[in-house]
Amino acid sequence: MTSEHSGHNNARPVILDCDPGHDDALAILLAAASPELKVLGITTVCGNTTLANSTRNALRLVNFANLGIPVARGAAKPLLREPSLDVPRVIHGESGLNGPEIPESPRGAVEESAVEFIVRTLRESDRKITLIPTGPLTNIATVLLAAPDVKDKVEEIVLMGGALLHAGNITSAAEFNIYADPEAAKIVFHSGIPITMVGLDATMKCVLTDDIIAEIRSMGTPVPVLAADLLDFYNSTIKRHYSEAGGSLHDPLAVAVVLDRTLVETRLMYVDVETQSELTRGETVGDVWGITGHHPNVEVCLDADGDRFFELLIGRLRAKWGRK
Ligand code: BDR
Ligand code: CA
Repeated sequence: MTSEHSGHNNARPVILDCDPGHDDALAILLAAASPELKVLGITTVCGNTTLANSTRNALRLVNFANLGIPVARGAAKPLLREPSLDVPRVIHGESGLNGPEIPESPRGAVEESAVEFIVRTLRESDRKITLIPTGPLTNIATVLLAAPDVKDKVEEIVLMGGALLHAGNITSAAEFNIYADPEAAKIVFHSGIPITMVGLDATMKCVLTDDIIAEIRSMGTPVPVLAADLLDFYNSTIKRHYSEAGGSLHDPLAVAVVLDRTLVETRLMYVDVETQSELTRGETVGDVWGITGHHPNVEVCLDADGDRFFELLIGRLRAKWGRK
């Protein structure tokens, strides 16, 4: 890893587990542009697109932006289910990252699998590491099943997924990442590791506008222009197929919450994941009234300050890639 991208000395070590995906791509750029974070690796998973595509996309992005971050290939399928690729294909396109031409990366993924990479990195680290999953939780659940000893090395898991009071986005009951692999989500939610759920209650407050995209584009250098092209594609498919209001930028909010907790309002409560019913598969069911007697396990984001989130995102992109 180049020193330029490893953040300052005290930078908080993080691993990004993702399925790029347009908003995952922006999450990677936000993390890489934030000196408070040291991105130890990017691990990929099947979610928005096939594993082959999400790995290729992570590699192409890392290469294009010269991030020098290792990419490890993860799970090609959810733990027990078949991949849910139809809806994300409409949003993210056939490649998972349609829109601008992004050159192939001359470098491939590392030899280790995502699970091997995460387990080894946690075991070897003298500091606790924060995991930021922004795709289905298959890799993270597999890590916990394969190597329960590493739990103690996880500082916290700040994940994009779930919906408490907001309706779901893949079904009325469920958010996509949790729906795609509900069994994995259940394992992670019950792991005992501190979890912050950055779900739709918060991310739906971070709605893209043409002005935001134009501001990113106006930075004028290749990385922000690529980001703006990606956002244009994403925003146009969402406007066409889902909501005229525009696309919410889900995944970068998880990174932003690690950088600045005050962007969101949270409440600690017991949350479980529905795995039995097909009707409500992947619903994140919160004990809103604290009546189940279960120990609270998740810090649920209930609201977000979208304006401040975009200020942070734009500021970080400008500081790293804007014209000097
Ligand atoms: C989540 O699903 C995916 O389409 C996005 O990348 C994000 O992680 C939003 O529900
Ligand atoms: Ca994602």
